[in-house]
Amino acid sequence: MAVPLKVAVLISGRGSNLQALIDAFGPKVADSPVKIALVLSNRPDALGLERADNAGLKTEIVDHKAFQSREDFDVAMDREIRAAGAEFVVLAGFMRLLTAQFVTAWRDKLVNIHPALLPSFPGLNTHRRALEAGVRFHGATVHFVRHETDSGPIIAQAAVPVLPGDDESTLAARVLQAEHQLYPSALRLIAQGNVRVEDDRVIVSDAPLADRVLFNPPLSS
Ligand code: GRF
Repeated sequence: MAVPLKVAVLISGRGSNLQALIDAFGPKVADSPVKIALVLSNRPDALGLERADNAGLKTEIVDHKAFQSREDFDVAMDREIRAAGAEFVVLAGFMRLLTAQFVTAWRDKLVNIHPALLPSFPGLNTHRRALEAGVRFHGATVHFVRHETDSGPIIAQAAVPVLPGDDESTLAARVLQAEHQLYPSALRLIAQGNVRVEDDRVIVSDAPLADRVLFNPPLSS
């Protein structure tokens, strides 16, 4: 069995994606290709910290309010991540903008999940904006992080249909369910060495080809 990829998961809140990662790669999982070395939150009250505790994972709080500048905050996080032995950083609902210095230091070792099919709808309120735009598909993207918000080489995407009668919460729930499958799957590909960046685009090797065309509404006859 290859040595597992040691990751730090950064959270700010609910931590449902963290939970999906715990279920896929947590201490109870034998021969996991990923080891969660640290769960770090910038908020002391993040529900995700409880999930990490329940799973017996190491946690740290680096409260952004305790720092004068973003730079100082990021340096403190960087220190905790490295002290835990993590070699890769996974953003899972982490709600702080990262400095150029941090992003550069972790280039191609830092991933995020965004609740939209990037490059559509970067930023906040993605579900509302997707409904307003009237798109027929919405979804989630796992990508390497670059300095510009919600940008960077795309690793994996999940598309979900927008259905008649959807509101923000029904659409968000459908996307979130897909996120919980997408993130562990993308991280597994990375840990197995099947993801590389070339010319700022991702090449995935050894993955079956996606061969299905999705239509919404379905093709009429
Ligand atoms: C998810 O929708 C994720 O895509 C976004 O923030 C949300 C985090 O949810 N980046 P949770 O904390 O993982 O439940």
